[in-house]
Amino acid sequence: PLSPLPTLHIQYYCVLGSMLLLPRQRCISQAAAKIDVDFDYDGPLMKTEVPGPRSRELMKQLNGIQNAEAIHFFCNYEESRGNYLVDVDGNRMLDLYSQISSIPIGYSHPSLMKLLQQPQNLSTFVNRPALGILPPGNFAEKLKDSLLSVAPKGLNQVVTMSCGSCSNENAFKTIFMWYRNKERGHVGVTKEELETCMINQTPGCPDYSILSFMGGFHGRTMGCLAATHSKAIHKLDIPSLDWPMAPFPRLRYPLEEFVKENRQEEARCLEEVEDLIVKYRKKKKVVAGIIVEPIQSEGGDNHASDDFFRKLRDIARKHGCGFLVDEIQTGGGCTGKFWAHEYWGLDDPADVVSFSKKMMTGGFFHKEELRPNAAYRIFNTWMGDPSKNLLLAEVMNVIKREDLLNNATHAGKVLLTGLLDLQALYPHLISRARGRGTFCSFDAPNDATRTKLIAIARNKGVVLGGCGDRSIRFRPTLIFRDHHAHLFLNIFSDILADFK
Ligand SMILES: Cc1ncc(COP(=O)(O)O)c(C=O)c1O
Repeated sequence: PLSPLPTLHIQYYCVLGSMLLLPRQRCISQAAAKIDVDFDYDGPLMKTEVPGPRSRELMKQLNGIQNAEAIHFFCNYEESRGNYLVDVDGNRMLDLYSQISSIPIGYSHPSLMKLLQQPQNLSTFVNRPALGILPPGNFAEKLKDSLLSVAPKGLNQVVTMSCGSCSNENAFKTIFMWYRNKERGHVGVTKEELETCMINQTPGCPDYSILSFMGGFHGRTMGCLAATHSKAIHKLDIPSLDWPMAPFPRLRYPLEEFVKENRQEEARCLEEVEDLIVKYRKKKKVVAGIIVEPIQSEGGDNHASDDFFRKLRDIARKHGCGFLVDEIQTGGGCTGKFWAHEYWGLDDPADVVSFSKKMMTGGFFHKEELRPNAAYRIFNTWMGDPSKNLLLAEVMNVIKREDLLNNATHAGKVLLTGLLDLQALYPHLISRARGRGTFCSFDAPNDATRTKLIAIARNKGVVLGGCGDRSIRFRPTLIFRDHHAHLFLNIFSDILADFK
C-alpha cells in the first residue's frame, strides 16, 4: 500500500519585503524525498468525518464502563506508520501531536518491529520484573546503551520509573532526602524522627516545599499536582500543599521588538522567586527544590530566555535549593538538542532532570551527591520496564543513524518559517508563532477559534494539539521532515483562507 513520495508543490502566500504579498511556490526537492523512511505513507487519506461512525460507536461502548469524554477517536495502530495515524474508520492523518508528544520515531518503525521478532528479546517483553530487587543480567548494560548514552552533563546517576508523574514525584523525594541530610550534617537519624515520620509530623516529615511556576505542569499525582498550575480541572477537589508559586515570564512577541520589556519581565519573575524563597524560609516551609520546564508545555508553550534559566539556576544554588528540570515533554530531541536545557549552557548542571514520553520509560537523572543513602527509599514494584530500555536503545541508534536532532532543527525551521508567513497573512487568526526545533506553537485569538481550527484540520487529515487557553502546539515525531512541514503548511493555509 506504500507508494513512493510524490514531489509536492505547495502554494501559499507569504510576505516578502515590505508587506508585498506574492504567491510562492514551495517545491520539495528530490533529495528531501530520498531520505524519507520507506515505511511512511505519502499523505493523509480521509474517508469520514473524525470521529467517524465506528469511533462514535466505540466511544459509546467505553463510556458505559468509564468516563470516556476525553477520547478524540479510536485508532488502528496496526495500520499506523511513520508520521501517519490511522483511525478505526480508515482515516489516515498526518500526526503532529504524536500521542501527546510521546512517539519518538514514528508508528511501527521497522527497527523496533525487528527488535520484537528477535527470539532473545522475547523474555524481556513477557516477564516484567520488579526491577529494584530482581533485575535481568543485562539491566546495567541496557541502561548504558540507552539512558546513560544521553545523560545530561554532570548527571551520572539514573533511576527509571513508569510515567512522568511518578518520575517527578520520586525526584521531589530525592531532593527532600538530600536536603534533610545536608541539614542534619550527614549524621544518623534520631529516634524522634523515626517516630514522628510514622504519624506525618515534624521533624520526621519536615515541612519542606518545592517552588514551582504558574502555568507549569508536572503531573497529576498529589505531590506533582501541588506544583502544577496549568488548568483548574486538573486540580479541582484535590487537597494540596502550601508550596510557593512564582510567576513565569509572559514574553511579548516578536521577541526582537520587545527586548527591553521581556528582560524586565524576566527580572520581575526572578525577583519574585527569591522573595518567595526568603518568605517561605521565614514561614518554616523551607524551599528544598525548584522545578521548572524548559518550555512550559501544557500551560501554553510559554518560553523564557536562556539567560532567565541561567539566573534561575544561580538563585537555586545561592539558596541551597535542588534544581529540577522537568524535560518530560521537551526532552528526547524535538527541540533540536537532546535536552532542551542544553541550550542554556549552564556552568553548573541541573541537580535533577526528569524524563518520560519520547524516552519510552519514565525516570530521572541526578548528580551523585543526591544518591539516596539507603535501599528502598526511592523504590516501587516495577521501577520502569526493561522492555522499554531495549526499545529505547534502538531508538537511540535510529536517532544517531538518521541524524534526527539535526532533522528536528531543520524541519522545525521550515515549520516555524511557514507559521510566521501565515501569521503575517492572517494576524487575526495566528499570533505569537514560536518554537525551538519542531517544538512549535502559535496562539489563536480565543479558545473557540482554537478548538474549531483543530477540528477542521483533523477533518482535513492533520492531527494537532491544544495547550494553554488558546495555543495550538506541534509535537511531531523525530522523523517529521521538511516535506511533512510543507504538506501541513499547504493544508493549513487553505484552512485559514477559508476560515469563517
Ligand atoms: C512537563 C511535564 N511534566 C510531567 C508530565 C506528566 O507526565 P505523565 O502524564 O506521564 O504522568 C507531563 C505530561 O504531559 C509533562 O508535560
